[in-house]
Amino acid sequence: MNPVKVGLLGLGTVGGGTVNVLKRNAKEIARRAGRGIVIVQAAARDLNKPRICDTTGIKLGTDPNEVVNNPEVEIVIELIGGDTLAKEMVLKAIEQGKHVVTANKALIAKHGNEIFAKAQAKGVIVAFEAAVAGGIPIIKAIREGLAGNQIQWLAGIINGTGNFILTEMRDKGRDFDDVLQEAQALGYAEADPTFDVEGIDAAHKLTILASIAFGIPLQFNKTYTEGITRITREDVTYAEALGYRIKHLGVARRTAKGIELRVHPTLIPARRLIANVDGVKNAVLVMGDAVGPTLYYGAGAGAEPTASAVVADLVDVVRAMTADPENRVPHLAFQADALANDPILSMDEVETAYYLRMQALDKPGVMARVASILGEQQISIEAIIQKEPLEDSQFANIIMLTHRVQEKQMNQALAKIESLDTIDGRVTRIRLETLDSSK
Ligand code: NDP
Ligand code: HSE
Repeated sequence: MNPVKVGLLGLGTVGGGTVNVLKRNAKEIARRAGRGIVIVQAAARDLNKPRICDTTGIKLGTDPNEVVNNPEVEIVIELIGGDTLAKEMVLKAIEQGKHVVTANKALIAKHGNEIFAKAQAKGVIVAFEAAVAGGIPIIKAIREGLAGNQIQWLAGIINGTGNFILTEMRDKGRDFDDVLQEAQALGYAEADPTFDVEGIDAAHKLTILASIAFGIPLQFNKTYTEGITRITREDVTYAEALGYRIKHLGVARRTAKGIELRVHPTLIPARRLIANVDGVKNAVLVMGDAVGPTLYYGAGAGAEPTASAVVADLVDVVRAMTADPENRVPHLAFQADALANDPILSMDEVETAYYLRMQALDKPGVMARVASILGEQQISIEAIIQKEPLEDSQFANIIMLTHRVQEKQMNQALAKIESLDTIDGRVTRIRLETLDSSK
């Protein structure tokens, strides 16, 4: 049988990795897919740039339209990034009845509802395994492997750049900006790295995970998003002293009132496997009612790990090309006409435990006043540490862990504590998740 002809948009980190993996493993891939898969045409911005891959045999150009319009091309791989040109090209490919493979989480999280509806109407597949957690086959695991379960919650380290920065800062005492530069040089970071460090990239990925876990439309705008830029070495050290690690987590949880969708730095017990996921590695912990907790771990970014997911999607698409579109795995795991409209909860309604750090005047009664404000909001303290003031300061660091409470109660308590003239500046608040099977 003739090989399937593929068009590639983008020859950067992931595009280059994809060319390399497809060429190196061509025989194995053909044995799996039932047909060979060859890239016949590709587009990039600057054809004089050095590439990480050998493009011999691939027709090159700078106009992605030429790739999409090539009548030979049956599958378009979109690895340009962003959600303007990428969206235009993906919709154009679908319009022409071509299948699409993409690693673009921003595109799927923001425009996936529209894209999947068009793809379904045209009977084509839009595959996006590489969009979440790099090389980890987490989409397939949730969409297919856990299809018998009601997913109760999932929590993941889903940005490789952020985890790499936090790990290097903690283990080697390196500066934030220095590590970020290295992540960029290694090809881990987004074109705009604020997407990584401000949690936007993780929010894109969590939006996708929540949709396939709970069968809800993609709702990126309702995902609470906080990045890692305000984590200090001090907090990392105090968290460790209390038996916790600070990780940037995406958490999606189904509750009786609605769905929690949130991305933020989180204290997790140091003994949990996921607390020990370091560097560019990602991990996603998924709680199903039948299977219990399952954990998926691997490289979250980088050329070949991501290419591994892109190529797996290509194989899936090739295998499914001859199947009746009605019998394919639905894009968002649940049949398109069976998506649920569960509300997404506001952060005020979310319940977590907290780590608090405040600078308090070192005199009698201050701690008691803070404890009484917390008590007025039904917030109970689980652990407390007080550090002596430094020689040149009259303020002592007070660190507290609280039991679970609604965010709105914590907000009220913190507003009162911050208004005390015995408390200096803002209270640092980091949410805490125990990630045990019961919650
Ligand atoms: P790169 O910036 O390395 O590559 C982007 C490619 O697109 C480049 O080859 C660039 O050309 C080409 N391109 C950009 N604009 C145009 C244009 N107007 N016309 C033609 N070609 C264009 O990005 P990545 O490979 O890192 O990322 C690609 C996608 O994969 C993004 O959506 C990203 O979020 C996602 N992703 C990335 C991962 C990673 O580890 N890097 C992991 C998982 C997903 P040129 O090279 O000439 O500039
Ligand atoms: N910038 C992303 C990350 C790439 O660091 O996780 C993988 O999606």
